Amino acid sequence: RSIVILISGRGSNMEAIVRAAQAERWPAKISAVISNRPDVSGLEFARAQGIPTAVVANKDYATRDQFDAAMQSVIDGFAPDLVVLAGFMRILTAPFVDHYAGRMLNIHPSLLPSFPGLATHRQALTAGVRLHGATVHFVTPDLDHGPIVAQAAVPVLDADSEETLAARVLEQEHLIYPQAVRWFVEGRLALQGARVRLSGDAV
Ligand code: GRF
Repeated sequence: RSIVILISGRGSNMEAIVRAAQAERWPAKISAVISNRPDVSGLEFARAQGIPTAVVANKDYATRDQFDAAMQSVIDGFAPDLVVLAGFMRILTAPFVDHYAGRMLNIHPSLLPSFPGLATHRQALTAGVRLHGATVHFVTPDLDHGPIVAQAAVPVLDADSEETLAARVLEQEHLIYPQAVRWFVEGRLALQGARVRLSGDAV
């Protein structure tokens, strides 16, 4: 299986997936890491690993449609079975999302359906929730509302700042995202209509 990972920055989730794929000898290769921003540290890590990289800079495109079309053609050049959004900070158009229906995952730093959108850790602190976390979901055109694949919860502590809470959540992201991607490449995870199917055995 072939995986293409999209990033916008640091790429620590991408790194966790690359390292798990290597250490656990997944039946898959990371075919490319693509960023919508040049000069991000995630690209340096990918290059150092010998993974092909590409930049499709959104600022070079006048419209979201043009950017998504360019991104789609670069992605499809790597013929992925799965597209992994890992801290990819762009809203995607419906045609793009539909093109990868059932084969695109995202990680969101909250326990969805709570706190979609940006600044999730601040949202959690403001709401006063005692549990927060992260969610891996299939991507659908409805932002941050796709079918849920995996979640991890962490406590919110009285002394938490956005930074300390984000760090606690990120640690869990690095566990559940590689796990979910592994399920997919092993053929155990699929989207059937609007439902997630996770089986014990490879299908
Ligand atoms: C992660 O918390 C991800 O869930 C969020 O942005 C952060 C990206 O981190 N949307 P990284 O680029 O994977 O290090």
